[in-house]
Amino acid sequence: MSGLVVAMDGPSGSGKSSVSRGVARALGLRYLDTGAMYRAMTWWMLQQGVDLADPAAIAARSGEPSIVSGTDPEGPTIQVDGVDVGGPIREAEVTGAVSAVAAVPEVRARLVALQRELAGAGDIVVEGRDIGSVVCPDAAVKVYLTASAEARARRRSAELTGSTVEAQQADMARRDTLDSTRKTDPLSMADGAVELDTTALNLEEVIAEVLRLVKERT
Ligand code: DC
Repeated sequence: MSGLVVAMDGPSGSGKSSVSRGVARALGLRYLDTGAMYRAMTWWMLQQGVDLADPAAIAARSGEPSIVSGTDPEGPTIQVDGVDVGGPIREAEVTGAVSAVAAVPEVRARLVALQRELAGAGDIVVEGRDIGSVVCPDAAVKVYLTASAEARARRRSAELTGSTVEAQQADMARRDTLDSTRKTDPLSMADGAVELDTTALNLEEVIAEVLRLVKERT
Protein backbone atom coordinates (compact mmCIF):
# COMPACT_ATOMS: atom_id res chain seq x y z
CA MET A 1 0.00 0.00 0.00
CA SER A 2 2.99 2.25 -0.59
CA GLY A 3 2.19 5.85 -1.49
CA LEU A 4 -1.40 5.64 -0.33
CA VAL A 5 -3.13 8.97 0.39
CA VAL A 6 -6.48 9.06 2.17
CA ALA A 7 -8.20 12.46 1.97
CA MET A 8 -10.65 13.12 4.80
CA ASP A 9 -12.84 16.22 4.46
CA GLY A 10 -15.95 17.50 6.19
CA PRO A 11 -17.31 20.18 8.51
CA SER A 12 -16.25 20.60 12.13
CA GLY A 13 -17.55 17.96 14.51
CA SER A 14 -18.07 15.38 11.77
CA GLY A 15 -15.48 13.18 13.49
CA LYS A 16 -12.62 13.75 11.04
CA SER A 17 -9.78 13.81 13.59
CA SER A 18 -10.73 10.68 15.52
CA VAL A 19 -11.56 8.78 12.34
CA SER A 20 -8.38 9.91 10.53
CA ARG A 21 -6.14 8.96 13.42
CA GLY A 22 -7.89 5.61 13.82
CA VAL A 23 -7.50 4.81 10.13
CA ALA A 24 -3.84 5.91 10.13
CA ARG A 25 -3.12 3.72 13.15
CA ALA A 26 -4.88 0.69 11.68
CA LEU A 27 -2.92 0.95 8.41
CA GLY A 28 0.42 2.17 9.77
CA LEU A 29 0.11 5.50 7.93
CA ARG A 30 1.11 9.03 8.95
CA TYR A 31 -1.56 11.58 9.86
CA LEU A 32 -1.74 15.27 8.97
CA ASP A 33 -4.23 17.65 10.61
CA THR A 34 -4.36 20.62 8.22
CA GLY A 35 -6.87 22.46 10.43
CA ALA A 36 -4.14 22.62 13.09
CA MET A 37 -1.94 24.47 10.57
CA TYR A 38 -4.63 27.14 9.96
CA ARG A 39 -5.07 27.37 13.73
CA ALA A 40 -1.30 27.74 14.22
CA MET A 41 -1.15 30.55 11.65
CA THR A 42 -4.09 32.23 13.45
CA TRP A 43 -2.41 31.84 16.86
CA TRP A 44 0.72 33.54 15.50
CA MET A 45 -1.28 36.41 13.94
CA LEU A 46 -3.02 36.99 17.28
CA GLN A 47 0.32 36.96 19.11
CA GLN A 48 1.67 39.52 16.66
CA GLY A 49 -1.37 41.77 17.06
CA VAL A 50 -2.25 41.59 13.35
CA ASP A 51 -5.70 43.10 12.65
CA LEU A 52 -7.71 40.03 11.65
CA ALA A 53 -10.45 42.18 10.17
CA ASP A 54 -7.95 43.28 7.52
CA PRO A 55 -7.23 40.51 4.94
CA ALA A 56 -4.40 42.57 3.40
CA ALA A 57 -2.65 42.75 6.77
CA ILE A 58 -3.01 38.98 7.21
CA ALA A 59 -1.73 38.35 3.67
CA ALA A 60 1.30 40.61 4.20
CA ARG A 61 2.48 38.65 7.26
CA SER A 62 1.47 35.13 6.17
CA GLY A 63 4.94 34.14 4.94
CA GLU A 64 6.67 34.85 8.26
CA PRO A 65 5.97 32.08 10.79
CA SER A 66 7.63 28.71 10.49
CA ILE A 67 4.93 26.05 10.93
CA VAL A 68 6.03 22.46 11.50
CA SER A 69 3.60 19.54 11.76
CA GLY A 70 4.50 16.17 13.31
CA THR A 71 2.59 13.36 11.59
CA ASP A 72 2.61 10.50 14.12
CA PRO A 73 -1.06 9.49 14.62
CA GLU A 74 -0.26 8.49 18.22
CA GLY A 75 0.75 12.05 19.06
CA PRO A 76 0.49 14.62 16.29
CA THR A 77 2.37 17.85 17.08
CA ILE A 78 2.38 21.41 15.80
CA GLN A 79 5.06 24.03 16.31
CA VAL A 80 5.25 27.68 15.38
CA ASP A 81 8.77 29.12 15.29
CA GLY A 82 9.88 26.18 17.43
CA VAL A 83 7.14 26.62 20.08
CA ASP A 84 4.69 23.77 20.73
CA VAL A 85 1.22 25.31 20.25
CA GLY A 86 -0.86 22.11 20.47
CA GLY A 87 -2.77 23.44 23.49
CA PRO A 88 -3.28 27.13 22.67
CA ILE A 89 -4.58 26.49 19.14
CA ARG A 90 -7.66 24.74 20.60
CA GLU A 91 -8.63 27.72 22.75
CA ALA A 92 -11.73 29.79 22.03
CA GLU A 93 -9.82 32.85 20.86
CA VAL A 94 -8.17 30.92 18.02
CA THR A 95 -11.32 28.93 17.21
CA GLY A 96 -13.28 32.17 16.89
CA ALA A 97 -10.73 33.80 14.58
CA VAL A 98 -9.50 30.94 12.38
CA SER A 99 -12.15 31.15 9.63
CA ALA A 100 -11.12 34.74 8.85
CA VAL A 101 -7.46 33.75 8.53
CA ALA A 102 -8.23 30.58 6.53
CA ALA A 103 -10.20 32.67 4.01
CA VAL A 104 -7.13 34.67 2.93
CA PRO A 105 -5.74 33.30 -0.39
CA GLU A 106 -2.07 33.99 0.53
CA VAL A 107 -2.48 31.98 3.75
CA ARG A 108 -4.03 29.10 1.83
CA ALA A 109 -1.35 29.14 -0.88
CA ARG A 110 1.41 28.93 1.72
CA LEU A 111 -0.21 26.20 3.82
CA VAL A 112 -1.37 24.15 0.83
CA ALA A 113 2.24 24.11 -0.43
CA LEU A 114 3.46 22.83 2.98
CA GLN A 115 0.67 20.24 3.04
CA ARG A 116 1.52 18.98 -0.46
CA GLU A 117 5.16 18.64 0.55
CA LEU A 118 4.21 16.52 3.57
CA ALA A 119 1.65 14.45 1.66
CA GLY A 120 3.87 14.03 -1.39
CA ALA A 121 5.59 10.89 -0.16
CA GLY A 122 2.20 9.25 0.51
CA ASP A 123 1.38 6.72 3.24
CA ILE A 124 -0.70 9.36 4.97
CA VAL A 125 -4.22 10.28 6.03
CA VAL A 126 -4.77 14.00 5.47
CA GLU A 127 -7.64 15.72 7.21
CA GLY A 128 -9.19 19.10 6.34
CA ARG A 129 -11.75 20.90 4.20
CA ASP A 130 -10.13 20.98 0.74
CA ILE A 131 -7.91 17.88 0.75
CA GLY A 132 -9.74 15.86 -1.92
CA SER A 133 -10.43 18.94 -4.05
CA VAL A 134 -7.20 21.00 -3.80
CA VAL A 135 -4.37 19.58 -1.67
CA CYS A 136 -4.43 15.95 -2.86
CA PRO A 137 -6.82 15.73 -5.85
CA ASP A 138 -5.18 12.43 -6.88
CA ALA A 139 -5.75 10.72 -3.51
CA ALA A 140 -6.73 7.07 -4.01
CA VAL A 141 -9.41 7.36 -1.33
CA LYS A 142 -11.50 10.47 -0.68
CA VAL A 143 -14.00 10.53 2.15
CA TYR A 144 -16.46 13.31 2.94
CA LEU A 145 -17.72 12.89 6.49
CA THR A 146 -21.00 14.47 7.53
CA ALA A 147 -23.28 14.30 10.55
CA SER A 148 -26.42 16.17 11.59
CA ALA A 149 -25.81 19.65 13.03
CA GLU A 150 -27.09 18.43 16.38
CA ALA A 151 -24.80 15.39 16.51
CA ARG A 152 -21.80 17.52 15.57
CA ALA A 153 -22.56 20.08 18.28
CA ARG A 154 -23.11 17.32 20.84
CA ARG A 155 -19.70 15.77 20.07
CA ARG A 156 -17.91 19.10 20.28
CA SER A 157 -19.52 20.16 23.54
CA ALA A 158 -18.61 16.80 25.07
CA GLU A 159 -14.97 17.67 24.25
CA LEU A 160 -15.14 21.19 25.65
CA THR A 161 -16.05 21.96 29.22
CA GLY A 162 -18.32 24.90 29.94
CA SER A 163 -20.05 24.92 26.57
CA THR A 164 -23.69 24.02 25.92
CA VAL A 165 -24.87 22.06 22.89
CA GLU A 166 -26.90 25.10 21.78
CA ALA A 167 -23.92 27.44 21.98
CA GLN A 168 -21.78 24.95 20.07
CA GLN A 169 -24.43 24.52 17.39
CA ALA A 170 -24.63 28.29 16.85
CA ASP A 171 -20.84 28.67 16.73
CA MET A 172 -20.40 25.76 14.33
CA ALA A 173 -23.14 27.06 12.04
CA ARG A 174 -21.31 30.38 11.87
CA ARG A 175 -17.97 28.72 11.08
CA ASP A 176 -19.47 26.32 8.54
CA THR A 177 -21.07 29.24 6.70
CA LEU A 178 -17.77 31.14 6.61
CA ASP A 179 -15.80 28.04 5.55
CA SER A 180 -18.29 27.03 2.81
CA THR A 181 -18.90 30.46 1.30
CA ARG A 182 -15.34 31.83 1.14
CA LYS A 183 -14.03 32.48 -2.38
CA THR A 184 -10.81 30.43 -2.17
CA ASP A 185 -11.14 26.64 -1.83
CA PRO A 186 -14.42 26.51 0.12
CA LEU A 187 -15.47 23.38 1.99
CA SER A 188 -17.13 21.20 -0.64
CA MET A 189 -17.37 17.57 -1.63
CA ALA A 190 -14.55 16.64 -4.04
CA ASP A 191 -15.04 14.76 -7.31
CA GLY A 192 -14.82 11.07 -6.57
CA ALA A 193 -15.40 11.48 -2.82
CA VAL A 194 -17.59 9.05 -0.93
CA GLU A 195 -19.99 10.70 1.50
CA LEU A 196 -20.28 9.00 4.85
CA ASP A 197 -22.99 10.18 7.26
CA THR A 198 -21.78 9.39 10.77
CA THR A 199 -24.84 10.61 12.71
CA ALA A 200 -25.96 7.13 13.73
CA LEU A 201 -22.54 5.44 13.79
CA ASN A 202 -19.97 5.11 16.54
CA LEU A 203 -16.26 5.74 15.97
CA GLU A 204 -15.35 2.08 15.42
CA GLU A 205 -18.11 1.69 12.83
CA VAL A 206 -16.93 4.75 10.88
CA ILE A 207 -13.29 3.59 10.94
CA ALA A 208 -14.36 0.13 9.75
CA GLU A 209 -16.31 1.68 6.87
CA VAL A 210 -13.30 3.79 5.78
CA LEU A 211 -11.00 0.75 6.00
CA ARG A 212 -13.46 -1.14 3.80
CA LEU A 213 -13.33 1.72 1.26
CA VAL A 214 -9.52 1.73 1.32
CA LYS A 215 -9.48 -2.01 0.61
CA GLU A 216 -11.96 -1.61 -2.21
CA ARG A 217 -10.01 1.25 -3.85
CA THR A 218 -6.45 -0.07 -3.52
O1 DC B 1 -10.75 21.25 11.54
P1 DC B 1 -10.53 22.49 12.41
O2 DC B 1 -11.76 22.93 13.15
O3 DC B 1 -9.35 22.38 13.30
O4 DC B 1 -10.19 23.65 11.34
C1 DC B 1 -9.94 24.95 11.74
C2 DC B 1 -10.35 25.94 10.67
O5 DC B 1 -9.46 25.89 9.56
C3 DC B 1 -11.76 25.76 10.13
O6 DC B 1 -12.54 26.89 10.45
C4 DC B 1 -11.61 25.67 8.64
C5 DC B 1 -10.17 25.88 8.34
N1 DC B 1 -9.60 24.85 7.49
C6 DC B 1 -9.52 25.11 6.15
O7 DC B 1 -9.98 26.15 5.70
N2 DC B 1 -8.94 24.21 5.31
C7 DC B 1 -8.45 23.04 5.78
N3 DC B 1 -7.87 22.18 4.95
C8 DC B 1 -8.54 22.76 7.17
C9 DC B 1 -9.14 23.68 7.99
